[in-house]
Amino acid sequence: MRKTVEVPPEELQKSLEASASLMKELEGRGFQYYIESYGCQMNDHDAEKLSGMLQTCGFSPAPSKEEATLLLFNTCCVREHAEKRVFGNIGALKKRKENEPGLLIGVCGCMMQQREVAERLFKRFPFVDLVFGTHELHHFPLLLSRTLAGERVFSVRESDGEIVEGLPVVRGGSFSTFVTIMYGCNNFCSYCIVPYVRGRERSRAPENIVAEVRSLAERGFREITLLGQNVNSYAYADDGVDFPELLRRVSTVEGIERIRFMTSHPKDLSPRLIEAMATLPKVCNHIHLPVQSGSNRILSEMNRRYTREKYLGLVEDIRAAVDGVELTTDIIVGFPGETEEDFEETLALVRQVGFSAAYTFMYSPRLGTRAAEMENQVPEEVKKDRLLRLNACSAEQLKVGNQKYIGQEGTVLVEGCDRREKAPMAYGKLTNFKMVYFPGDAGLIGSMRHVRITGIQNNSLIGEPVE
Ligand code: SAH
Ligand code: SF4
Ligand code: F3S
Repeated sequence: MRKTVEVPPEELQKSLEASASLMKELEGRGFQYYIESYGCQMNDHDAEKLSGMLQTCGFSPAPSKEEATLLLFNTCCVREHAEKRVFGNIGALKKRKENEPGLLIGVCGCMMQQREVAERLFKRFPFVDLVFGTHELHHFPLLLSRTLAGERVFSVRESDGEIVEGLPVVRGGSFSTFVTIMYGCNNFCSYCIVPYVRGRERSRAPENIVAEVRSLAERGFREITLLGQNVNSYAYADDGVDFPELLRRVSTVEGIERIRFMTSHPKDLSPRLIEAMATLPKVCNHIHLPVQSGSNRILSEMNRRYTREKYLGLVEDIRAAVDGVELTTDIIVGFPGETEEDFEETLALVRQVGFSAAYTFMYSPRLGTRAAEMENQVPEEVKKDRLLRLNACSAEQLKVGNQKYIGQEGTVLVEGCDRREKAPMAYGKLTNFKMVYFPGDAGLIGSMRHVRITGIQNNSLIGEPVE
């Protein structure tokens, strides 16, 4: 069982009181904020909390980045590419800050939790007003009030892992949203920076999660995605609730029709979870199950703690138990020491499983991780070549997999509408995460529609409404 440390309500209170006094101070100054996020859903959800705190403070969202008087960069550092973009985009603001001295620039998120990177950024861009790490999210109003008083603020702190409950959240959507069930990661996959910047695993109390879901349902949300770096190791110390039990409890919330979750680590995927997926009608028949590599030697070097055979066994069990299930995955190519043979094992695995989507990445060395120190780093051209071949292979599989849908029927939760040449096309996902486009207008957004699949276009299915 993992220990959970909750932030004392007094501390949170102090932070929010600072917001209230800040709001008074700001009256009439008309601050408008803009947040740019670079990372995963966890990162996006942090931005929703930053928005919540800002709106509590009296800030309103800016219609565009150009009109903002407070710019926040919510960074990611999972791959080098994300890091470079942040440095580039902040560097480009130098001129604007000279012309608009009142503009406030803040940088937060995972990249700022790496002390040496945060210090480098703070030094290199003297026009940045505020830098804070992932463990300081709930102190944001307090830090911002110091910034507004004219101080240049740098706040990056180590933390054993706290859980903050009760932060205000401004959600992007109105019918589908995210609920974090746990923070941090203990797995230390040898390539990955996340455990270093998000701290140790800690799970929220089930009653807090259920209460949040209930209040979302009351506000009209119909689909929720439970978030964690490794939801299968969700464990709440006080009463022994594990992830399948949590799914069962969340399922009892009236008004919620679809429950999704991510991410599942194959090493912790239990028969109980498969059973929960098979028996709880609201739990969707889709699982994101990152495999990372098809080679046992590479999986072991990655510290993933499962084999190719174990993974394929899980896929078989899930498919046998869960009707119409689809699998998606993450794959890294060019991990140190990956040979052509290792890579071909990955290709063979992709062919064998037939994922409905594979998110593929070139290995990117991250400072402080074990893999960054490994000999036999793979040259960039080899990584690029493997990525292209892998993407071609997974696209081929997708095409084959899509064929079976023609003639089938299913229910779509409509997310949006595209103006096409002939007629507007509504789009949304089936329970198993397959995207479907069908004739329909923006009035359908947020509703459930029954469709029959009639064709395939690119990666998506095309359908027609069924009465
Ligand atoms: N907790 C999740 C996802 C974490 S990050 C999981 O365990 O699957 C999302 C994806 O980024 C990972 O699945 C991995 O495929 C990729 N990734 C992480 N670190 C990387 C690195 N150093 N280089 C390339 N890809 C990486
Ligand atoms: Fe990174 Fe592995 Fe943790 Fe996922 S499980 S966040 S890949 S260390
Ligand atoms: Fe997510 Fe990037 Fe952090 S992937 S957890 S925002 S390093």
